Amino acid sequence: MKPVSLIQFLIEERRAGHINAELSLLIEVVARACKRIGVATGKGALGGVLGEAGTGNIQGEAQKKLDVISNEILLEANAWGGHLAACASEEMEDPQQIPDGYPKGQHLLLFDPLDGSSNIDVNISVGTIFSVLRCPDGVTEPKAEHFLQPGTTQLAAGYVVYGPATVLVLTFGHGTHEFTLDREVGSFVLSRRNIRIPEQATEFAINMSNQRHWQAPMQRYVGELLAGKTGPRGKDFNMRWVASMVADVHRIVTRGGVFYYPLDAKIEKQGGKLRIMYEANPMAFIVEQAGGAATTGRRRIMEIQPTGLHQRVPVFLGSKEEVELATHYHLEA
Ligand code: AHG
Repeated sequence: MKPVSLIQFLIEERRAGHINAELSLLIEVVARACKRIGVATGKGALGGVLGEAGTGNIQGEAQKKLDVISNEILLEANAWGGHLAACASEEMEDPQQIPDGYPKGQHLLLFDPLDGSSNIDVNISVGTIFSVLRCPDGVTEPKAEHFLQPGTTQLAAGYVVYGPATVLVLTFGHGTHEFTLDREVGSFVLSRRNIRIPEQATEFAINMSNQRHWQAPMQRYVGELLAGKTGPRGKDFNMRWVASMVADVHRIVTRGGVFYYPLDAKIEKQGGKLRIMYEANPMAFIVEQAGGAATTGRRRIMEIQPTGLHQRVPVFLGSKEEVELATHYHLEA
């Protein structure tokens, strides 16, 4: 079979009526920016890009140099194409407007420019996550409130993992597809079409160091997984935790499994660890389109009406049967 490039795939999606020309251009621009981020992360110590930037983001978290560089690459790439009304980043308090003099488009882009950035200095996979919404009609200077749309309204979502290979996973709501960067040619090539996440899992991802802070239903659920063959689940489960959501989700999208970042006593006040607009919604869209499920432990993530650009939520996602069981334990408690 002849390889299908991302550009060819986008043309097919346009012909199928799944996307318009502006959204196609937006994805091309984001993919190109991510290639640049991949090059910057790939230089490691030789690029002088490791370590702290000496600044903090809106959440008060210390920024790595590569957080700042990746954010700038995405902002710059998306400023002039005429496909965006505005963008919002996990690294910035307010939405970024399109600079004066450039044309504007119909789309809103949200991104976490470098997810898992605590892993950069130790050379473990990191990634970019993005989500695309439609700008409400008649709005010319989108503010935070215009971005506050439930995940069900996303037009597209994707992530790029900068790992041994650079991989883009994308959905427009018509299945989830994977592209691998051909580094010699410089283009993303379709490597898996219509990915399906197995409904059952034998692998789970969770930060076990938070166990003592979890709520009772989570204690019960994970306790049963850990009990293995002789416990109520009757089978052994393996555990993995990369601490880069992109890498953990990519493993699930590749061979099944579940990812949990539940609410716990330490993070109760902030509502969770992961951000709904930059992490939870795009990953939920990707996982659901691959046949998986994504909840907060109590309700479907994509049905939440967000109230803040940097709002956080608990995240349960991956193989359907496991997510449903963990959610059931929370709802019956
Ligand atoms: P950051 O991008 O600030 O490093 O956050 C990473 C996120 C997510 O990618 C990962 O799943 C989770 O935080 C890891 O959290 P812990 O550090 O609590 O394990």
